[in-house]
Amino acid sequence: MTVIPTMLTCKRKPATDTFYHDVIKGLSAPQKYLDPKYFYDAAGDALFQQIMQCHEYYLTGCEMEILRTQSAQIATALQNYAGEFDLVELGAGDATKSVHLLRQLLDNGVDYTYFPIDISGNVIQNLETSLPEKLPGLRLHGLHGEYFHMLQQANRYTSRKKVLLFMGANIGNFSVTAASNFCQQLRQYLQPGDLLLTGFDLKKHPQVILNAYNDSTGITRAFNFNLLHRINRELQADFDTTKFDHFPTYDPGTGACKSYLVSLEDQVVHIGDDFAVNFAENEALYMEISQKYSLEETDQLAAFAGFKPVARFFDRKHWFADCLWKCI
Ligand code: TRP
Repeated sequence: MTVIPTMLTCKRKPATDTFYHDVIKGLSAPQKYLDPKYFYDAAGDALFQQIMQCHEYYLTGCEMEILRTQSAQIATALQNYAGEFDLVELGAGDATKSVHLLRQLLDNGVDYTYFPIDISGNVIQNLETSLPEKLPGLRLHGLHGEYFHMLQQANRYTSRKKVLLFMGANIGNFSVTAASNFCQQLRQYLQPGDLLLTGFDLKKHPQVILNAYNDSTGITRAFNFNLLHRINRELQADFDTTKFDHFPTYDPGTGACKSYLVSLEDQVVHIGDDFAVNFAENEALYMEISQKYSLEETDQLAAFAGFKPVARFFDRKHWFADCLWKCI
């Protein structure tokens, strides 16, 4: 009897397998693309931390300002519109922004449970240890998993009204069509009267936006190339990053801010032993979108998905808005 070593029949771990298939799928499409969720390995996380420190990258600072200076107004709005509620946050991260709102609600004597949802188990674990230290008395129930599945879970744990936080301009990582579908889907997990607070990066001078995705120190460039390095390392590929240029774009008409890597010559890239892909000279590899909105467009999105806009909170420059919508 021949025993086939499992090493040969099952070369990759399941996570690597999904990564591999997503990469192959993206590189086989007529418009080649990579799924931006793979930016965030350990090196990518560190680079993104650095992006957030860049003076050109204004998004984090603007939303931080809103939460730091207007949590009292936000809390009052939530209490007025929802009465008794529990708070659910999608993609909670380290909660550095929401912590201001959580504290304000505790100070106001609001009796609520905070359900942070994140795809990373690590993130949830960290929150479960760090937040009760910062906010004594906070009731917290971390949910680690995919957004919609975890929303379903949250619905099992509470029958109260829900206030859903979706901050950090995460909505911008979808195209307008995808964002519309996403909000419509979110709406299905909510009840009339529930609230949704979403962060939108607003349309502004196009140069300001373009610079935020093209910082002068080259960190965003390195962040994009890091994904190619990750593919080389984890999927035994041979991307030569000297043969690509980082090319960020912003279209003030549509509000779409897109990053590409452009091939500098005709070349073949191998992903492992079984897959090869041609890049023509000047062919663009699409890396990510960050969609910018006008206030009218945020209202249209709300209406399309079954929400009514009830309040907006801005930073001093009006570059960013946290929009509060009520489910109808
Ligand atoms: N998507 C996030 C944003 O729009 C994070 C981000 C900033 C990003 N710069 C990037 C993602 C460059 C990919 C490439 O702000």
